[in-house]
Amino acid sequence: MTLKELAAHVAAEFKEHYGREPRWIVAAPGRVNVIGEHTDYNDGFVLPMAIERYAVMAADAAAAPGRISVYDIHFKESAGIDISGAVTKGQPKWSNYIRGVLAGFQARGTKLPALEVAFMSTVPLGGGLSSSAALEVCTATLVEAATSRSIDPVEKALLAQKAEHDFAGVPCGIMDQFISALGREGHLLLLDCRTRKTELVPMSDPAVALLVINTNVKHELGSGEYAKRRAQCEEAAKILDVKSLRDATAEQLERDKGKMSEVVYRRARHVIGEIERTTMAAEGIRQSNWPTVGQLMYASHYALRDDYEVSCAELDAVVEIAESLGAKGGVYGCRMTGGGFGGCCVALVKAEAAEAIAQKIATAYKAKTGIEAAIFASRPASGATILKG
Ligand code: GLA
Repeated sequence: MTLKELAAHVAAEFKEHYGREPRWIVAAPGRVNVIGEHTDYNDGFVLPMAIERYAVMAADAAAAPGRISVYDIHFKESAGIDISGAVTKGQPKWSNYIRGVLAGFQARGTKLPALEVAFMSTVPLGGGLSSSAALEVCTATLVEAATSRSIDPVEKALLAQKAEHDFAGVPCGIMDQFISALGREGHLLLLDCRTRKTELVPMSDPAVALLVINTNVKHELGSGEYAKRRAQCEEAAKILDVKSLRDATAEQLERDKGKMSEVVYRRARHVIGEIERTTMAAEGIRQSNWPTVGQLMYASHYALRDDYEVSCAELDAVVEIAESLGAKGGVYGCRMTGGGFGGCCVALVKAEAAEAIAQKIATAYKAKTGIEAAIFASRPASGATILKG
């Protein structure tokens, strides 16, 4: 479904549910991270792109004050959010992403308008493609539209990240909300997570395509392990006497290897290497040097699998299949993407072979794991937009 079709569908559902046309329609995309994994909370670089999968909201002012009603089109479930005082956590669970953002606007002194909202998302839930960031940034964009006041996109991303921390209890970095808010069609976003400076890296060579391969598994231990990894990185930085692993070099790590546990050493080795790989990959993309970018993607996967230990059998299976197709088969590189423990892989492939590669990966993955993968190609999409209003 194109964004236009999705917006028309959400508008029609709004009309069906509330009996009138929506006044505002807004959208925010999910993302796939091409490279730079588990580097954002280490002040490093990330290189994500927005994908052609979106959270879309249609809305109008509500007649009754003090409340924002949100109708989830897909699950046919509604949330009533009391905005007469400070917005709090509540039910249903998904409403907390929205509640968190509303609370963030209140904290900035915004007087929230009473609204009726319908929403739908084509970002696969729990697939590691930032469905929650899309929902948060979409909500923030709706508040901007409905109050006729836009906020700085960096502040918007930070507000959405805070919603994830405080209302969803996930201590995420800044990557997902940044790319959803700041993505640009035809571009990857090289984000320096320390300075928050961004650079748009054009990615419009028609000879290559990016495939997103959803393993359709999600292992539960993910969230606890994420917090553990963060703590291990902090420990490594402390031992190396640097503010964050961004400031450490591979030489320094080798020198001080004896001062830390073997596990902490490996965690730091991944992060330090990955920060370097990310800037190298950005350079490779600027020069359309696809074999180099592909090699960096494989190297990223191995480090995430062996040193950072956030991969899983299904993600490894996809990467092995991609590797066995190899450059001859049109695959430049492949890696897990996002937090790990399930979710998706991203593969850089020759555009002309993309469809055949997707087929082959799906067949081999099914044979190896018994699971159906969901595979799609996406061009770099635009970040959050107001489509109507
Ligand atoms: C999750 C987090 C991000 C980032 C990635 C790993 O997606 O939300 O902030 O840390 O994991 O790169």
